[in-house]
Amino acid sequence: MGADERTSDVAGTDTTEDIPQYPSPRSAQCPFAPPPDLLGLHATDKAVTRVRTWDDSTPWLVTKHAALREVLSDPRMSANIGGEGYPHTTAAMKAHAAEMEPSINNTDGAEHTRWRRTLTSSFTRHRMEKLRPEIQRITDDLVDRMLAGPKPVDLNEALSLPLPSLMICALLGVPYEDHEFFQEHAGVTNARYKTPEEAAETTRTLRRYISGLIEATADNPGENVLTDLGERVRGGELSLEEAARLGHILLVAGHDTSANMITLGTALLLENPDQLAALRERHDDAKFVQNAVEELLRYLTIPHLLARRAVVGDIEVDGESIRAGEGVIASLAAANWDPEAFPEPEKLDLARKASHHVAFSWGPHQCIGQQLARVELHVVFSTLFRRIPTLRLAVDLSELKFKEDSQAYGIYELPVTW
Ligand code: HEM
Repeated sequence: MGADERTSDVAGTDTTEDIPQYPSPRSAQCPFAPPPDLLGLHATDKAVTRVRTWDDSTPWLVTKHAALREVLSDPRMSANIGGEGYPHTTAAMKAHAAEMEPSINNTDGAEHTRWRRTLTSSFTRHRMEKLRPEIQRITDDLVDRMLAGPKPVDLNEALSLPLPSLMICALLGVPYEDHEFFQEHAGVTNARYKTPEEAAETTRTLRRYISGLIEATADNPGENVLTDLGERVRGGELSLEEAARLGHILLVAGHDTSANMITLGTALLLENPDQLAALRERHDDAKFVQNAVEELLRYLTIPHLLARRAVVGDIEVDGESIRAGEGVIASLAAANWDPEAFPEPEKLDLARKASHHVAFSWGPHQCIGQQLARVELHVVFSTLFRRIPTLRLAVDLSELKFKEDSQAYGIYELPVTW
């Protein structure tokens, strides 16, 4: 239903039948854009509206950029996925919520700060910049292999999936000789069709392996996350099990998001030849590429179904009273296409000032890996089209299958040739 067809009851709130379904489908003609019904909400001038989700619950949806930043910074918003009213994405996630262990991504206030502090010094911009030569080497190796192999090739397999996974090995300090074992298990962690038993077994195996590596950093330290975590374990700040849990979360959080961003960003650029030409021409202009990465992050908003919170204290947003025990979906995708924050949001403009986008969320849970993701994307988008100037889709855009149902938006396979 389009937003302009909605009516209000006497009290000024939507009548039950009028509550729009969320999420709504994307347009087959514009698969890179957020769903038309979601964007239609911008025309109503309301920053927040009730939506109906898969389980017939009716959480609030925040769509405007300014309101979203306000809501996500508010301490009355809880990331506790077991909290009353928390709007779960799927039935499986809801079922899983009770047994979810506390960690950086699902705690609040002082407890969240404690988790977050264990990682901040490992993720400074300076540390991430030091990884740039390694990211460049891995990217060049993967492109060499692409060029030497048969074509067409699926970009996911050839570049988008192996790059973040090899990068996380470097970031954590996983020995290179173990990277195949590590990648195989990381693959199962992120697989769409895994059984609960497979998922549990993979978690156990990976955590055991990560714990072993953390212990080994006592004798063999390096400038990496597992060494940092090892120091905190030996200092009594964290248990070994908690440290392994964090290592595992980094693996999951930093894998699919970056991979989908590489694949989807490549497809979007190939569909926008004028923008691609500008990028190719200015591939060694660091400022331009940096800006281009921000605009791609804004346009595509890979975490398209986030961010989600349970309300733990009554608040008012844009004149609506939101009560404790209700759920809020702060739509990063809608906010990144809010015309008040980004004029003509449907226009991909790599020169646009887009760094105020919220693709990494906002507030205390804002992505801790964002500097790493930026360096990765900078290297990929300044290398791929320079090394393979004739890169093109090997199939028609209409044949691509987009990941509408997945936590991270993307494309299942991207056949490319040159
Ligand atoms: C393009 C790539 C990426 C995108 C778009 C992305 C997006 C996000 C978003 C939207 C959140 C916050 C969700 C919320 O507010 O509920 C988040 C949190 C997080 N991300 Fe990322 N991410 C990316 C890459 C990475 C990488 C490379 C890492 C680490 C290696 C990482 C680690 C994390 C962690 C640990 C959190 C939880 C932070 C907290 O709750 O305090 N992410 N990410």
